[in-house]
Amino acid sequence: MHKENPIGVFDSGVGGLSVLREIHKLLPHEDLLYVADSAHAPYGDKSKEFILERSTAIVDFFIGQQVKAIVVACNTATGAAVKELRPNYMLPMIAMEPAVKPASEKSITRNIGVLATSRTLASNNFQILFARFADQVKIIAQACPGLVEQVERGDLYSDKTHALIAQYVHPLVNQEVDIIVLGCTHYPFLAPLIQEIAGASVAVIDSGFAIARELKSRLEKAEILSDRTYPGSVQFWSSDETSKTKPVISQLWGVDIHLSKLPERVLA
Ligand code: DGL
Repeated sequence: MHKENPIGVFDSGVGGLSVLREIHKLLPHEDLLYVADSAHAPYGDKSKEFILERSTAIVDFFIGQQVKAIVVACNTATGAAVKELRPNYMLPMIAMEPAVKPASEKSITRNIGVLATSRTLASNNFQILFARFADQVKIIAQACPGLVEQVERGDLYSDKTHALIAQYVHPLVNQEVDIIVLGCTHYPFLAPLIQEIAGASVAVIDSGFAIARELKSRLEKAEILSDRTYPGSVQFWSSDETSKTKPVISQLWGVDIHLSKLPERVLA
């Protein structure tokens, strides 16, 4: 595998951009490819088989683009598909894990909240993570139906988004959590509102930077970190109508981007 090959990053939709931005910050010389499977978001209400099928199609697309590593920037796809995907591909595949470990190390009240999709909370991965820290902290898991859809629409501050977040965050604050872990890659885009609603005594954390750091270390170990000294490129694809997804990706990425539609064979 060549050092200057790109890195593939994907999510059910635009949420993985919160991970992509950390990767871009930490590894500015790498070429990055991003796939938003927006036609099928949210993954949270799809079957495990469907998520595995979609993840396989996207990973195969990346392989066709000669990627040197893949980041599954989606907690739901991590829980539903990564164990099955990994043995089939001979390249570093980095997946999500909600930041329960750092939260358990930092919490003073010993109560931490985790916001995630229902499917992530029901996954084996999360049950194992939960069990690993259950004797150190009380973990209060809160499913957040509707929040992924708000981010997919780029609707980060409306009354509806505010009401949904208040409904999910107030019970956590009432149970004296001092850290809220964002266990879905869409939620960092809602962090300012989550922070405002939770109040200043609660820290809101996510795993974006930790994933970028893990990617860097895996590339270093495999000796495939880019040697370039000029900025890498970032390319975007979506499975949905580009006219629908482009404005939202541009909004969340902070510049007007070019968005391509995924080829037909990756769409079904
Ligand atoms: N960004 C995905 C995650 O981290 C959203 C899941 C979904 O589409 O339901 O879980």
